[in-house]
Amino acid sequence: MTVADVFVDLRSDTVTRPTRGMREAMATADVGDDVYGEDPTVNALEAEVAALFGHEAALFAPSGSMANQIALQLVVPPGDELLCDADAHVVTYEIGAAAAYGGISSRTWSPVGADIDPDVVAAMVRPEGYHAVPTRAIAVEQTHNRGGGGVIPLATLRELRRIADDAGVALHCDGARIWHAHVADGVPLAGYGALFDTLSVCLSKGLGAPVGSLVVGSADKIARARVIRKRMGGGMRQAGILAAAGRYALAHHVDRLAADHAKAARLAEAIAPFGVLATTVRTNLVPLDLTKAPLDAHALAAAARAEGVLVSVLGPRTARLVTHLDVDDAGIDRAVEVLTRVLRG
Ligand SMILES: Cc1ncc(COP(=O)(O)O)c(C=O)c1O
Repeated sequence: MTVADVFVDLRSDTVTRPTRGMREAMATADVGDDVYGEDPTVNALEAEVAALFGHEAALFAPSGSMANQIALQLVVPPGDELLCDADAHVVTYEIGAAAAYGGISSRTWSPVGADIDPDVVAAMVRPEGYHAVPTRAIAVEQTHNRGGGGVIPLATLRELRRIADDAGVALHCDGARIWHAHVADGVPLAGYGALFDTLSVCLSKGLGAPVGSLVVGSADKIARARVIRKRMGGGMRQAGILAAAGRYALAHHVDRLAADHAKAARLAEAIAPFGVLATTVRTNLVPLDLTKAPLDAHALAAAARAEGVLVSVLGPRTARLVTHLDVDDAGIDRAVEVLTRVLRG
């Protein structure tokens, strides 16, 4: 079966293809050499995203992983420590980049998704000194990918900010899907922005752009970020073609995320009776725990694929469904029909 035969692809919100309007915006974008800082569309996108989060500046990067790793190098010097969830993208799916590129030592709290206990984090922070590795930053993920799209409550984030301030360490947000949190909880993007020293935000997850993420922070940090990006090979030339897709996505595809959340809720409701929902569904991710199911994750994925429905396998008994711009109501109907039949055994 080729991708063209697939009826509905629920593996990830990164599988979307640019819409006609987005392609038109890309085709007509004003461009220049962004390594010289001369691409007007990139400059406009960076200014727009910085303003959305209430920060001084932002930097366009080719991927969310690079945006995260640039930000971590900004706030944690080589040999010093980053604290995060054991399931965080920065230590799970970025192929050891914090250690390999930044010389950063990472220490993790037990995976809790969005349900962070600030007291646990506070107790982990190590002070300045030569005896133990000093903590320099705490990173959180909003929404939490492996945590099933959970949204960290604003009160928890405020508490983490207080802990970071008391300890004199930085707070970073992997905001690949911060737009989803904003839509789910109604917290203004600037409200999130005010709580973090650095953020990374993605245009290619749920918002439908083909490429692109941004690092957000102070003017001073972003000037340093530009150097780190170049060092990592992320300096792009006429990147305005890509930035135009991002600007289009911000203008047209943020509010509509509510529809993706509603579709995820429909999927969750349909499969809940089978006892396979790993957690309450808040956004566009539907995590499955197949421990008590009649089949494992590979068998589920294979059976669904045979009927044109693609799901992600995350582990032997864990899988994931993700709603996005390219899955319509008919796709959800089909997925419900196929998945409930497969789960019935
Ligand atoms: C939470 C989170 N952060 C960062 C990334 C990295 O994005 P990219 O694939 O663009 O490197 C992802 C990718 O899915 C993600 O889910």
